Amino acid sequence: MNDLNAEAEAILRRNDRGGYTVPTEGLYPYQWNWDSAFAAMGFAQFDVPRAWEELHTLFSGQWDDGMVPHILFHRPDPGYFPGPDVWGGRGPVASSGITQPPIAATMARLVWEKDLAAGKVAMANLFPKLKRWHAWFMDWRLDRDAVCITHPWEAGRDNAPDWDGAMAGIDPAGVGEYQRRDTSHVDSAMRPTKYDYDRYVWLVQQGRRLEWDQAKLLEENPFRVADPTMTFTLLRANRDLAAMGRELGEDLGEIEEWIARLEAGAETLWNPTLESYDARDARSGAWAGCVSNASFLCWYAGLDGMSAQLDRILNLTPYGIPSHDPSSPKFDGKRYWRGPIWGVMNMLIGLGLEDVNHPQAGRVRQTTHDLITEHGFAEYFDPRDGSPAGGMSFTWTAAVWLGWANRGAG
Ligand code: SER
Repeated sequence: MNDLNAEAEAILRRNDRGGYTVPTEGLYPYQWNWDSAFAAMGFAQFDVPRAWEELHTLFSGQWDDGMVPHILFHRPDPGYFPGPDVWGGRGPVASSGITQPPIAATMARLVWEKDLAAGKVAMANLFPKLKRWHAWFMDWRLDRDAVCITHPWEAGRDNAPDWDGAMAGIDPAGVGEYQRRDTSHVDSAMRPTKYDYDRYVWLVQQGRRLEWDQAKLLEENPFRVADPTMTFTLLRANRDLAAMGRELGEDLGEIEEWIARLEAGAETLWNPTLESYDARDARSGAWAGCVSNASFLCWYAGLDGMSAQLDRILNLTPYGIPSHDPSSPKFDGKRYWRGPIWGVMNMLIGLGLEDVNHPQAGRVRQTTHDLITEHGFAEYFDPRDGSPAGGMSFTWTAAVWLGWANRGAG
């Protein structure tokens, strides 16, 4: 085993809080939804039972309407804002009131493939929960069959320029005083601005006032954006759910129908002027006009159309795919989702490229391998020189190393 494998395993073990894994000590002290799915995939490389436990704990927070929250607050921690008292979630575990990209089915499939016989009971237990979560998206979140977010945090890409138009439509008057905690852990130049946070908090207050009722949110929430992250990850997740359902002898009719609808919905995210998949404001109909790393999840979802953009972007940076187009005036190399490279997004994009034997597949994986080898297990990286940014000793970067970036090496 090489040293980086040992370090990655040690990061997962250190961030393990007993049944769930925090993304990193300090900055994110709870269980995050898609981070946790990546953690499961990472654990599966050396401890398959622990991987299943991670997913089991995540779904212990599922709400009775099927939603799986983006944060589960298992134990209080004053080091994070906004905490459980601000959110007022109404699930079986203290939680936020929004969700996150549904990658759990895809990661569960990778976990299951590590040991099909031993994982059958765990998978059979998880399958109906995954299906209920996917059904919740289909029931509540479609706009022209593309999947919408109701808060930028749901996309996981918090401050991406994709949301600038919809965020400008929010007047955060009355949001009141609050104390951010993130900027006490990390340089504020690497985090969202106060302008963004005022709107994030306003949206949380609004959701709480509406008791996180999806029908009321659909009626009242000014922020509703059809998002490539959600649409592509749900499409892929349904394909993986169908594959697992087939193994389990489940009826696949409904899932096949969801796949067909989402395939059509994904095409409503094609912006012909930009020649890219793009976010679309479901309220105004306006395009975001952003080539983001989420645009390149099309292959992961079983679609294509982005090869010319991929060649262009890969020639602009030495390491994989930045969260925002480096040639755009909105590009900011250190500020979270407005420029930095994220290993997890490179992995999802890379898995899709590998599925079709795309000529750039090897390059995306190799550059992610080099990035982590040269710059460590950071939360994200400046695409211009690879310098590490955000939190360090990061769970999902370690997981991506173990399960994908270092595959076949070391
Ligand atoms: N990413 C958010 C944060 O930075 C929450 O999901 O706190």
